[in-house]
Amino acid sequence: MVPFSQAAYFICLFATVSCGCRTQLYPNVFFRGGDVTAMYTPSARHCQVMCTFHPRCLLFSFLPASSPNGTDKRFGCFLKDSVTGALPRVPWTGAISGHSLKQCGHRISACHRDIYEGIDMRGVNFNVSKVESVEECQKRCTNSIHCKFFTYARQTFHDAEYRNNCLLKHSPTGTPTSIKVIENVASGFSLKSCALSEIGCHMNMFQHTAFSDVDVARVITPDAFVCRTICTYHPNCLFFTFYTNDWNIESERNVCLLKTSKSGTPSPPAPQENTVSGYSLLTCKRTLPEPCHSKVYAGVDFEGEELSVSLVKGASGCQETCTKMVRCQFFTYSLLPEDCQGDKCKCSLRLSLDGSPTRITYGMQASSGYSLRLCRSGDSSVCTTKSNVRIMGGTNSSWGEWPWQVSLHVKLPAQSHVCGGSIIGGRWVLTAAHCFDGLTFLDIWRIYAGILDLSEITVETPFSRIEEIIIHQNYSTTENTNDIALIKLEVPLNYTEFQKPICLPSEDDTNTIYTNCWITGWGYTKERGEIQNILKKTNIPLVPNEECQKRYREYKITKQMICAGYKEGGKDACKGDSGGPLVCKHNGIWHLVGITSWGDGCGRRDQPGVYTKVAEYVDWILEKTQKRDGQSLMKSTA
Ligand SMILES: *[C@@H]1O[C@H](CO)[C@@H](O)[C@H](O)[C@H]1NC(C)=O
Ligand SMILES: *[C@@H]1O[C@H](CO)[C@@H](O)[C@H](O)[C@H]1NC(C)=O
Ligand SMILES: *[C@@H]1O[C@H](CO)[C@@H](O)[C@H](O)[C@H]1NC(C)=O
Ligand SMILES: *[C@@H]1O[C@H](CO)[C@@H](O)[C@H](O)[C@H]1NC(C)=O
Ligand SMILES: *[C@@H]1O[C@H](CO)[C@@H](O)[C@H](O)[C@H]1NC(C)=O
Repeated sequence: MVPFSQAAYFICLFATVSCGCRTQLYPNVFFRGGDVTAMYTPSARHCQVMCTFHPRCLLFSFLPASSPNGTDKRFGCFLKDSVTGALPRVPWTGAISGHSLKQCGHRISACHRDIYEGIDMRGVNFNVSKVESVEECQKRCTNSIHCKFFTYARQTFHDAEYRNNCLLKHSPTGTPTSIKVIENVASGFSLKSCALSEIGCHMNMFQHTAFSDVDVARVITPDAFVCRTICTYHPNCLFFTFYTNDWNIESERNVCLLKTSKSGTPSPPAPQENTVSGYSLLTCKRTLPEPCHSKVYAGVDFEGEELSVSLVKGASGCQETCTKMVRCQFFTYSLLPEDCQGDKCKCSLRLSLDGSPTRITYGMQASSGYSLRLCRSGDSSVCTTKSNVRIMGGTNSSWGEWPWQVSLHVKLPAQSHVCGGSIIGGRWVLTAAHCFDGLTFLDIWRIYAGILDLSEITVETPFSRIEEIIIHQNYSTTENTNDIALIKLEVPLNYTEFQKPICLPSEDDTNTIYTNCWITGWGYTKERGEIQNILKKTNIPLVPNEECQKRYREYKITKQMICAGYKEGGKDACKGDSGGPLVCKHNGIWHLVGITSWGDGCGRRDQPGVYTKVAEYVDWILEKTQKRDGQSLMKSTA
């Protein structure tokens, strides 16, 4: 029999991005039943975000303005749950349905930038001002602590008195209380969840301090950190107070009180033993915490409704099982002798109405924790490659430092290293399209993973063969555009400390400012050099595209490219590095930001290297890999 983890491995061939992740939208379809809650949203995409962040929602149906049914249903966003993950589909003209993006790692974001023309999103109007543009109105909303969404009356608005009015709004749920079609107005949401607020945030937490003020919600959490993350993603929480397990009233232990106030700040706090207080991080600049909780808590039981029970090896295995089962919100792994068989013990997957345990009990022979389904990095065993940054200066890499790096060899009949590449899934390697110029015959390729020193490769060294090469349809050799290719391996790689995938950035990362970036490869270290034996690494700054364009007057630097290099030259990618990774560490996780593509010479002064910008191709990568994983899934079950 195939053990569970093994079976899951074969089903989730591309676990970092697609296992359980379903991004399709279904036009003219409405899901019947399974209703959890309903609200008004301006679009199906926004409805999908609401579904993703709702603890129970797996499916949604949205009725746009054109929907023929009653006016009260227009702009209706219906969030749904289903034990099987599916619901009956009813044909409904104009309706749009789809799945939550839970488990979609790279796509999980509460950030919603769209501006909607011709609709008025209603709520509590708490501030009116005159501004020149809808963007300025959105910025005001982003920088106003209570603002959730806004409506702007354009210059062409029929009533002259209201023209250029910027109305800042809030509501109990953070979504509009209704939506009306009105000409010459535009509406949108605060960009706080895009980490664009300039308000700034308080990261400090205060021991033995309790805030009074209004409670907007109450949840059970194991510690103040989980309480803070929940506050950050709650529509109306500005600050919180957490009552620890030592609090004297038993029924209030582990209670996390989410709070707000009219002024936006708490009233003077009171000293209070066994409490911890702090603030929402939603107004932080540049970066927000992930909407998930990864810590495993020893000695505690998270109580809730039981979803399923299985025997699993280790608490982290139980967490992985919970993460893969999309309805699982949290788990308890029992270590009681009667709950164990050999090295496996009882793993209980659980859920509740609000996504938090209904009770936390201490002193148990058990460990508990949460599903990682909303972690951007997804499954912790796969791409949260948090390898340590080593000492700078040295250029030789060490074992396991860049475990996603592969070496692409061609045997014709002599064998040599041609390009680099990056592992992004069990069967998938991402590289540059130009590596295959004139070399599209599959049998000549040999892919080496988990290799540091090329000179150690012998006839016995195992390698992977290529099943399929997918070159971007619009790759152009003359313009160096769309220089990206996917390699599908014949046999999936087994992940180890020395060969495992790197996270893809998300589409929302196209504007992320990366500060800690590295390139790696076995390429030349000087223009007329030779292939290096030991994998080399270089810490390199990114160069803004406008700057890069000035250095390459004869070429067009498109927004699908990203440049990197030092002004004084000297550090760059060179021949043999092509196809290899430009990686940046962001929020503790390595992301594949670029693919080494081209440059004028190597490390020349004022000539940065040009890389294919991976964030621009995430949808392409998903489309290609999902389509084909589906096929291989069918093959492996046949
Ligand atoms: C909405 O309209 C569709 C026809 O497009 C109809 O089939 C459906 O029953 C209506 N639903 C409700 C709730 O009125
Ligand atoms: C509305 O917000 C602006 C800042 O965006 C502030 O200067 C103004 O005082 C506020 N008006 C009211 C009535 O609160
Ligand atoms: C890198 O490794 C090579 C081969 O082992 C060695 O000759 C060289 O001295 C090393 N360079 C550094 C900077 O450690
Ligand atoms: C390729 O280019 C064509 C024409 O510019 C465009 O319509 C198409 O969407 C592009 N394909 C991809 C996958 O980008
Ligand atoms: C991966 O591991 C399995 C089980 O140990 C083994 O049968 C398989 O050959 C391995 N795959 C590769 C590519 O090494």
